[in-house]
Amino acid sequence: LLSKKHFCKHFLKVIMNGSKVLIEQSLGLQGEVTLAGAKNAVLVIMASLILTSGKSRLTSVPSSDDVFQMVALLQELGADIHFDTVNGILDIDTRNVTSCTVSAEIMRKIRASILVMGPLLARFGRAAVALPGGDMIGMRPIDFHMRALHLMGADFEIIGDFISARVRKASLEAQRIVLSYPSVGATENIIMAAALTKGATHIVNAAIEPEVVDLIIVLRKMGAQVTIIAPATIVVEGVTSLHPIEHEIMPDRLEAGTLLLAAAITGGSLHIRQGPGFLLDVFLEALVDMGHTIEVGANGIGITFSAAKNPRAVSFRTMPYPGFPTDLQAPMMAVQCLADGESIIQETVYENRLLHVRELQKMGAQINVEGAKAVVKGVEELYGAPVIATDIRASAALIIAGLAARGKTSMTGVHHVLRGYQELPEKLVKLGGKITIDQT
Ligand code: UD1
Repeated sequence: LLSKKHFCKHFLKVIMNGSKVLIEQSLGLQGEVTLAGAKNAVLVIMASLILTSGKSRLTSVPSSDDVFQMVALLQELGADIHFDTVNGILDIDTRNVTSCTVSAEIMRKIRASILVMGPLLARFGRAAVALPGGDMIGMRPIDFHMRALHLMGADFEIIGDFISARVRKASLEAQRIVLSYPSVGATENIIMAAALTKGATHIVNAAIEPEVVDLIIVLRKMGAQVTIIAPATIVVEGVTSLHPIEHEIMPDRLEAGTLLLAAAITGGSLHIRQGPGFLLDVFLEALVDMGHTIEVGANGIGITFSAAKNPRAVSFRTMPYPGFPTDLQAPMMAVQCLADGESIIQETVYENRLLHVRELQKMGAQINVEGAKAVVKGVEELYGAPVIATDIRASAALIIAGLAARGKTSMTGVHHVLRGYQELPEKLVKLGGKITIDQT
């Protein structure tokens, strides 16, 4: 059962789906923030608990809507769950997980729901899921996931939007899998499937995003044997059973990046005590190139930021980790809109992740798009305007732009902020941001 407090909070959020975020110019954001647990780590780690039978505890769990959807999904499979949203403690008991079918209603709400496919096939030999949903930032197919699991011995039947998967023999078989692109989700699904599969599964050209590594830490705690071989091969030696765990979710590096960009565009300063500087090197380097001052603490943890008076524009291209994260492309573009000079931004991970450009243009930004490339010419001022958030990171970009824009910005599509961030507007308000939620 979800706690009563959580239920009320979630209910409020559902009501807020039809509402707007109102942002007024708020120069010089200042202060200290704490980070929530990483959304992209917690979702897959929750799915990985299907591999075990028993009660696990996750801490530092963010109260974001995607987490609530994953809770609902696991409950549908039979898991008993208690979520203490105040303290971020999530207890998941997988003893009664017997169902292998996820309803279309839940699958369509979060793309990460596809991550139950690998664990279900490994533990039960079958899985029935609908095609996943999520942000509208590209085609986002699942062919890598299916090809790998097919090679390991799963057969798929697709009827309309539904995929039914079944293991051909008694269990999956270890294979050498070469990914043509280091897909985060496909890597995670294969690792989880391989953890209970006899023999050594090799994943070549695997994604080694920090959130994948957090999953690997969890699987090792469960008793799995997983190693990473440079430059990007993951080897999983299957074991016969895995046991429940306790784990603190890593801090959200993408939330850290978003908050730093809010401080950057408003000419402010910020201290993030648990800021994982060592996981944000390329991004932080771009901020330094703009002229901002950044200090990273000992062991790469702790970020202190102070904005430059006249920041220069920088160009960048998104890449798999350790490159510039695609999830910070939109917020970084908002910041380039007011920088001195021209910024060339190339989105290489997704084919359709520039939907925020049109909204930034409504605020006075000078941006030209050619395919997956955006050329941003810095302007003196942005102006508040009615804008629409189309995905999680676009919503962050528009809020950031709104903080620096003259006048009022009203943003619809509030549910996108709630999906991916735990209380982003509230955190910005604490730093001096003038942000309110209009529910009329
Ligand atoms: C994860 C993150 C998301 C982030 C992305 C890239 C979660 C919950 N989400 O998403 O925030 O933006 O990594 O860092 O962790 N692709 C295929 N076929 C496939 C799978 C992917 O063509 O079978 C393509 C996608 O369309 C996309 C690219 O590969 O263009 C990267 O996708 P992927 O790394 O799989 O992203 P996700 O795991 O969905």
